[in-house]
Amino acid sequence: MATLAELAASRTRLGEASIDHLLRLTASWSLLSDLSFSDLLLMAQVEDATGDECFVVLGQMRPNNRATLIDDDLLGSTQPAQNWPLVRQSFDSATRVEGEVELDNVAGAVPVWCVPVRHDGAVIAVMVRLQGPLRGPSSLYEGQYFSVFKRLCAMVSDGSFPYREDAVAGPGLPRVGDGVILMDRLGQVEFATPNAVNALHRLGVYTSSEGRTFDELGVRAKAIGRSLEFGIPTLEEIDVGHDVAILVHGVPIISEHRVTGVLTIVRDVSDIRHLDRVVLSKETAVREVHHRVKNNLQTISSLLRLQARRSEEVETKTALKEAERRVRSIAVVHEVLSREPGEDVVFDEIVRSLVLLVEDTVLALHPVEIVVNGELGVLSTDLATPLAVALAELLTNAVEHAFVDFGGVDNHDVGVVTLNLYQENGQAIAEIRDNGRGLGEDFSLEIPTSLGLSIVRDLIRAQLYGEIVMNSVPLVDGGGTFVRVSVPLDARL
Ligand SMILES: Nc1ncnc2c1ncn2[C@@H]1O[C@H](COP(=O)(O)OP(=O)(O)OP(=O)(O)O)[C@@H](O)[C@H]1O
Ligand SMILES: [Mg+2]
Repeated sequence: MATLAELAASRTRLGEASIDHLLRLTASWSLLSDLSFSDLLLMAQVEDATGDECFVVLGQMRPNNRATLIDDDLLGSTQPAQNWPLVRQSFDSATRVEGEVELDNVAGAVPVWCVPVRHDGAVIAVMVRLQGPLRGPSSLYEGQYFSVFKRLCAMVSDGSFPYREDAVAGPGLPRVGDGVILMDRLGQVEFATPNAVNALHRLGVYTSSEGRTFDELGVRAKAIGRSLEFGIPTLEEIDVGHDVAILVHGVPIISEHRVTGVLTIVRDVSDIRHLDRVVLSKETAVREVHHRVKNNLQTISSLLRLQARRSEEVETKTALKEAERRVRSIAVVHEVLSREPGEDVVFDEIVRSLVLLVEDTVLALHPVEIVVNGELGVLSTDLATPLAVALAELLTNAVEHAFVDFGGVDNHDVGVVTLNLYQENGQAIAEIRDNGRGLGEDFSLEIPTSLGLSIVRDLIRAQLYGEIVMNSVPLVDGGGTFVRVSVPLDARL
């Protein structure tokens, strides 16, 4: 589906600045559509080799407060000029042309306005307003809306709407149905719709607003003052305490270079802000929980360390130290989660911390360099925690066992442990390779004697439904030990 910019560039002769102007118009014309209760089309002249004159539809807008007249998506469609003589007339005369048009699928003639869109002195497109059937007796405000619409149309034709400031435009803005206050050139309220009156109530204004300025009413909306003074669109949120938040959008109405009024669209966003706060506080709570879990695990590991120091027996000492290290590797995951809570976690941050942890615990014994290549990206926490613990075990093993009683590595002064991480065919892969002494003759991964590898086996196979292979690397290939862990990324854990 082509965008306005693409269509304009490929089908018309409009330059970049003109296309920008049209983009700004369509970013803010929902306002025009709602104020006039009408469908809007934006038509530009097609540069066609055939010679038949045509228009291309560069934009289509439906009103929010009325049923649409046009069910079809006309964006990008080519309209023969003979079907739209009034559009032709509007281009030629550079004035607004009113009349009627016959539409496919619509019974009867449809009242139409053709409003020339001027930019830098030239008419670059025509905005077509197609009025739907009137719905019963018109409400009190429809007449007011319509007169504002007329004033904005005059601005479209003299080039002062859309505004040059495109910062205040787009889908997030309040819409006419949210509540409208029209002010005169002095900032005095001319009328306020019922929804706008409700919003004023929420701001503590219970007196009639008619004939008074926001200042006189005690509404602190500085931005509206800027719209009045400088003729620029503004957006401001007025907060009263924790409970009330009102979004105020100022649309200056300009005639002959002078601000003649401001259309103020207000929207009560208190509920949305309240929800934002709830979500935010939940996130903070989750973060806090992870933080506490991490702290508790660190306390446990400190206790284990203390106990290790106190015990006389070497075996007990070692066992306690190992337990301490394992607890700390789990704490690493919670540490990362306490910074960025959620279902997913950036695994590479965990890897970084794990490497530091392993270096910290065992490297003091002999010089070993740990090199990490690649990354696993974002993983679910269900996968990340067991995987982190397993990797910590394997890295520790390499650092702890590979270079013991080892005469040295050819051409190396230090041992090197390499951790390769990547994703492949829906699997997270971790390869740990060292250039140490390799596994003993009688080594078998399947014989559950020692605790470390039993933990790894259990985590990888039973908990993560993954695979693990472990073997010595022949001396011709550099020697040492190679471990490959692969776990499916989408396993239901
Ligand atoms: N990278 C390696 N290089 C050489 N030998 C290794 C390597 N990894 C493991 N081993 C051998 O495998 C044995 C079993 O390892 P495992 O991690 O299960 O137990 P451990 O490290 O001895 O004790 P712990 O339970 O504290 O981890 C080790 O004792 C060691 O002999
Ligand atoms: Mg071990």
